[in-house]
Amino acid sequence: MSAPCLARGSPGRLALANVAADILNNLPLAELHCHLEATVEPDDARIFAKRNSIDISGVFNDQGDYHWRDFKEFLDTYDAVSEAIRTPQDYYELTLHYYTRMAARGVIYGEVFVSPEHAGKFGISYTALIDAVAAAMREAEAKSGIVGRIIVTCVRHFGSEHATATAQLAVDHPHPMVTGFGMAGDEAFGAAADYARAFDIARDAGLGLTAHAGEILGPESVHEAITLFHVDRIGHGVRILEDDALAAAVKDWGLTLEVCPTSNVAIGLYPSLERHPLPALVAAGLKVTLNADDPAYFDVDVADEYRKSAEIHGFERERLAGFTRTAIEAAFCDSKTKVELLTRLDRN
Ligand code: ADE
Ligand code: ZN
Repeated sequence: MSAPCLARGSPGRLALANVAADILNNLPLAELHCHLEATVEPDDARIFAKRNSIDISGVFNDQGDYHWRDFKEFLDTYDAVSEAIRTPQDYYELTLHYYTRMAARGVIYGEVFVSPEHAGKFGISYTALIDAVAAAMREAEAKSGIVGRIIVTCVRHFGSEHATATAQLAVDHPHPMVTGFGMAGDEAFGAAADYARAFDIARDAGLGLTAHAGEILGPESVHEAITLFHVDRIGHGVRILEDDALAAAVKDWGLTLEVCPTSNVAIGLYPSLERHPLPALVAAGLKVTLNADDPAYFDVDVADEYRKSAEIHGFERERLAGFTRTAIEAAFCDSKTKVELLTRLDRN
């Protein structure tokens, strides 16, 4: 793969980086919930679109940012932007770009959702996709120490047959950096039971499991993810406090929540970060991690999430370190890697 030539980021982002650096003071960070295609900033999407002769002008607003008005439109924009990413080289570049930036922001471990269904639409094979992403992760680790892993992800609104086929691809082509299977997309699409087979296939192969649930829909969706998919982690799950018994069960079973506050506010679940249930989830003793979800859409990264949680909810450094510890403990990587990451955390 050749060297990337993507945009370097805006001055605004650099200013934020300095503020966060003061508050976080070199605290190692970890992220479990981030969609790889959503790490592509609008400027880079335009570079990919031009390079691949694709017209995605309809996804931008007058300021040149991604445009959407509600969750469904967000998913449509996401799918459309993903169409500009057409080659393994594109995936290699965007992955290297993201991991390099996150390492500079203090992230020592990051899992990303990678969608073979998006990539496969334009002929990128599963193995070419995974090889490209893994090569970039390895390169980033060699340069900066950041450790990456891949969660192969199906997209619920693309249908259950695709979901099953995606899980089967992951199992038929095992790769040391593919350690999880997940489901993203429209949580309200189709019947959850139809997707259970995909999770069965992935679980039998030893992959860690996570599904978006309790983001758009309420506790019943989390309940389905637990009872039908037998997930290890819940993508979002922020609405479980609406059901005391479910929240208690999630706590007893030790399931980890991949909480993405800025995403939840941007999508319209909560009116502001101040009104987000993050402090209540923590106070309830649930296993909580902090994540950016779709950084290029919501103008946020995981370091911003840590900083904002300190600024808005008054979390101290020990609590912030707790988010990293919980993320490493719940990570879909081997135990030797976890011990090394926890050692790095404890050194700071
Ligand atoms: N795919 C990308 N971002 C997502 C989100 N926030 N929810 C569901 N699916 C997604
Ligand atoms: Zn997500």
